[in-house]
Amino acid sequence: MSFMYWESVPGEYDLTLTEITGSIPPGLTGTLYRNGSGRWNIGASQVDSLFDADGMVVAFAIDGSGVRFKNRFVRTEHYVTTTAAGRMVKRGFAHQRPGGIRANAFRLPANTANTNVMIGADQLLALWEGGRPHGLDLDTLNTIGMCSLDGVLKGPIGAYSAHHTYDATTGSRVNFGFEPYFPRFDLRHIRSAPTREEKLRRLKELVGEAITRVRLRLYDTDARGVTRYLRAVPLPGMGLIHDMALTPRYAIFMLSPLRINPWALLGHKSYWDAMRFKHGEPSYFILAPRDGGRVRVIETDPFYMWHYANAYEDGADVVVELPRFAPETFGGMQAWGADTRSDMARLYENVAPEALPDTVRLTRFRITADDRVHTEPLAPMGCEFPQIDQRRSTQPHTVTYVTVPSDGEGSGEGIGRFDHVDGTVQTYCPPGHKLVEPIFVPRPGSTAEADGWVLSVGYDEAQHRSRLMVFDAPHLDHGPIAEAWLPFHLPMSYHGGFTSRVAGQ
Ligand SMILES: [Fe+2]
Repeated sequence: MSFMYWESVPGEYDLTLTEITGSIPPGLTGTLYRNGSGRWNIGASQVDSLFDADGMVVAFAIDGSGVRFKNRFVRTEHYVTTTAAGRMVKRGFAHQRPGGIRANAFRLPANTANTNVMIGADQLLALWEGGRPHGLDLDTLNTIGMCSLDGVLKGPIGAYSAHHTYDATTGSRVNFGFEPYFPRFDLRHIRSAPTREEKLRRLKELVGEAITRVRLRLYDTDARGVTRYLRAVPLPGMGLIHDMALTPRYAIFMLSPLRINPWALLGHKSYWDAMRFKHGEPSYFILAPRDGGRVRVIETDPFYMWHYANAYEDGADVVVELPRFAPETFGGMQAWGADTRSDMARLYENVAPEALPDTVRLTRFRITADDRVHTEPLAPMGCEFPQIDQRRSTQPHTVTYVTVPSDGEGSGEGIGRFDHVDGTVQTYCPPGHKLVEPIFVPRPGSTAEADGWVLSVGYDEAQHRSRLMVFDAPHLDHGPIAEAWLPFHLPMSYHGGFTSRVAGQ
């Protein structure tokens, strides 16, 4: 697969898409918003990591007569500053500022607003997990500015993660924010140490304090759009927590033994490069009652993950479903994450061929009332970016939509549909194409799960351009029923959402 996929989008466009193959179903009207990294070059600087390229929000508005497209870069401080400088000047998550340790020490990564969107009544939020969201106009996609959700997001960074989770029973959305702890840094106390060893011990003590006091802040946004703070969730360690799951009673997190070496704070390497999979240590499920009760911390086998498909309660049990990554894939993941232009097949470079089939599996974890964890694989092939009919979120569901590898070597991605009742698997993986996270849209007037359409954006390597793709949800393997082509390409977008509101011109 060509690495042209990861080129910048050269501008900002407002287009009516005239090249449509197939036909858009008459009942499908609304807007698909997606967010991802859209700017891979800033002057002479090339951005290598998907974490640190500037966020670009796209909107496909489907109004019954056609499809309009719009894209805008989020005007973050990172975007504005680097544009003015003509090069990368900020510390990112996988990118170090020029100037060595001094230039990077104690600097948090710059907010690129590049990961997901949250569709509100009066604005669209561009989300990034280590900082505040940016508000955008729902129609123009122009950046309104960084926001604090009416002052509810507090703390030094006010983080509001990229993965809010919908509660179909209440219509609310729950999200979390990472809250770092900054110990009081008394330089004189460190300098006055009589020996070099004592200096180092005092420094380590400070870093240790920063790690053990990290916690998450939990927020609830109700159906009217009012956000309130729910509770703090202490963590058993400092690691990467990218997504959350939700049941009517619990907010659920998974802390893997994938830990950030605290010395990253001191700036000698990037946060991403400083991550290590600590073999021999467990993973933990963290079940935080939404109403504020005692947090349950439950040990399980070591693995890591990015995204949840769903969670729900079954009697006294809590069931969580997610693509589980085997620990031995992390070395390859780390290499690919730091250099997205390299081949994604690197994910599997440390994996023995016979172990390949079990590297990434959609897995059901059943957590019992006495804190035991039973696991069960749900599908016979690798997958990521799981999505469901959101009307079933926090309740049992029967169908999961995913991205799937097309040829086992990671070069090219298609989409799949796993039916958990009859065990069938459907895939659509045309060679030379890359499809992103499939979003399910229900058919208006129908309440049946999976009755509707699936939307994706597909890149065609031969033509070096992209298109909106519409699938009939029950027959994903039949291929798209409609495609609305752009005259240019879009790099991979990570996450998105659909609303029945049609974005204006
Ligand atoms: Fe994500």
